[in-house]
Amino acid sequence: ARIWAVLPAAGRGTRFGGEVPKQYLEAAGKPLIAHALDALLSHARIDGAVVALAADDPRWPGWTTRHGKPLLRCTGGGERADSVLAALHALPSDVGDDALVLVHDAARPNLRAGDLDRLIDAAIAHPDGAILGAPVRDTLKRADAASHIVATEPRSALWRAFTPQAFRRGALSAALERARADGVVVTDEAMAMERMGAHPALVEGREDNLKVTTPADLALAEYLLARGTA
Ligand code: C5P
Repeated sequence: ARIWAVLPAAGRGTRFGGEVPKQYLEAAGKPLIAHALDALLSHARIDGAVVALAADDPRWPGWTTRHGKPLLRCTGGGERADSVLAALHALPSDVGDDALVLVHDAARPNLRAGDLDRLIDAAIAHPDGAILGAPVRDTLKRADAASHIVATEPRSALWRAFTPQAFRRGALSAALERARADGVVVTDEAMAMERMGAHPALVEGREDNLKVTTPADLALAEYLLARGTA
């Protein structure tokens, strides 16, 4: 089957603060988005990638190919799901509904080939697709509006959801369209699939596949990328 990567990179990174959207912050010599793209396109099983960019993005370097593979661009939308949908529409016409699409945050620079391999294997094996994640390790508290503890939540069945998230193109597109029609903002692609009754597989991935959201995350990403595989 064909396998394409989709990178929503149209966010403005407002939680991080500052001028530069977080996907363009530099770590270990290149922007986070370049690390994310290189991790995906250097992988032998991935055929190409589509990035969804803000309409007025002045920073995109204009790459049309990387690692000898096609790198397409499109204009993203107001919500993450709008950006992913735009990218799915921008896939080449010979990428069919049964092709596997790996959606990956542009702000996750430290994706390793081993995690990609296990995710792809799981998504091929499971009709509902698969995502990378990790079991929750901290004790979880439910709080009231005053930040006082109301309850301790059992954590044994709870996971954190990472990216990439891998689904068949047609099913993902239909699920995101449905969420949009229902007026539901989904925070990841699996959530849209779950609303359709799907039960995607959870593949335990490396904890260091972090999403850069704060300056402390950027410092950690810098350290991890400089250290290389370990
Ligand atoms: O803000 P958050 O960390 O959830 O963003 C995750 C990814 O989704 C980022 O790569 C961001 O650029 C992207 N995004 C997007 N379009 C939006 C909002 C976020 O492509 N409207």
